[in-house]
Amino acid sequence: MDKLKTIFSGVQPSGNLTIGNYIGAISQWSELQAKYRCIFSIVDYHAITVDYEPDDLRRRILEITKIYLASGINPEYSIIFQQSDVSAHTELAWILGSTGAYIADLKKMTQFKDKAGEKQDAVSVGLFTYPVLMAADILLYDTQAVPVGDDQKQHVELARDIAKRFNGQYGDSFVVPEALVPKEGARIMSLTDPTKKMSKSDSNVNSYISLLDNIEVAKKKIMKAVTDSGTDIDYDPVNRPALANLLTIYARLGNREIKRLVKDYKGFGYGDFKKDLAEVVAKFLTAFQEKYNAISDDEAKEVLESGRQKAEALASLKMEKIRQVIGVR
Ligand code: TYM
Repeated sequence: MDKLKTIFSGVQPSGNLTIGNYIGAISQWSELQAKYRCIFSIVDYHAITVDYEPDDLRRRILEITKIYLASGINPEYSIIFQQSDVSAHTELAWILGSTGAYIADLKKMTQFKDKAGEKQDAVSVGLFTYPVLMAADILLYDTQAVPVGDDQKQHVELARDIAKRFNGQYGDSFVVPEALVPKEGARIMSLTDPTKKMSKSDSNVNSYISLLDNIEVAKKKIMKAVTDSGTDIDYDPVNRPALANLLTIYARLGNREIKRLVKDYKGFGYGDFKKDLAEVVAKFLTAFQEKYNAISDDEAKEVLESGRQKAEALASLKMEKIRQVIGVR
């Protein structure tokens, strides 16, 4: 009997992965793999819902695989695979889109509204139904918990609703999943505008630090980061959101407590604080990139191939049951 809790999460291979993706999501994953059955996907079919270059996509799939490995995800414990390698994801997305998912739900999704902006009718159907594919990713593996940043919570809630509706209609078929959001750093903000989340697709490269940024460039981005009015170092996310964001980054990448940082920086100003933070970020990135650079493309491809086999085996068993309950078998 398999009582082991299953964890599923993924990252889209679009844009340069940032320290926001790392702090909000990926850094949690390596800790979870010691206790649970973990499945981590490079969700490439999500990345084609907006404009993209095929060559970039190909390169980024391997890049993200290496980022997973450099973050400490061990393919001996966790399944690492490419979403498009397991066709059950798109098959289940069709079934869920025809059963548990309603247009009214999808219209409420903040990420769709943000990405589509003014032109809601002129974007791809895929951008609109994207959360249904995400629900399929999650439900296909009987996932109990989904470690994600704050911005994906709404999508996980929708996956829960879809699972409940499907179970209501066809009998218990899917586990109802929960989002697992970190207490600190679930929403790392842009370095140039603390009201916006740090995003890998932001056109202003100074707004984010990529995990693969040149170290000197990354340090400069910290020194240039906007700060709020005031001069002392204090944690006040409401009135001083820019500083609160930098403190969160410091705490998470430097393994320190925010409370402790505030104490240690008593009597110091922004200049000293930022200089030290730049060093913390530089140290983190140097160690990360050392690991990243030691992984070859061939190694990453092998990891994906062995992950494909394991994910495919789990997914095909589940799909057989689902095809039966909906009446096509
Ligand atoms: P994506 O690729 O945009 O982001 C990957 C993960 O990084 C988190 N994240 C952040 N966390 C903190 N601060 C930030 N500024 C920040 N920016 C991004 C995201 O919350 C996410 O956890 N739809 C998903 C990918 C996906 C998925 C799934 C996730 C597809 N299928 C199934 C989990 C389970 C997405 O676009 O994430």
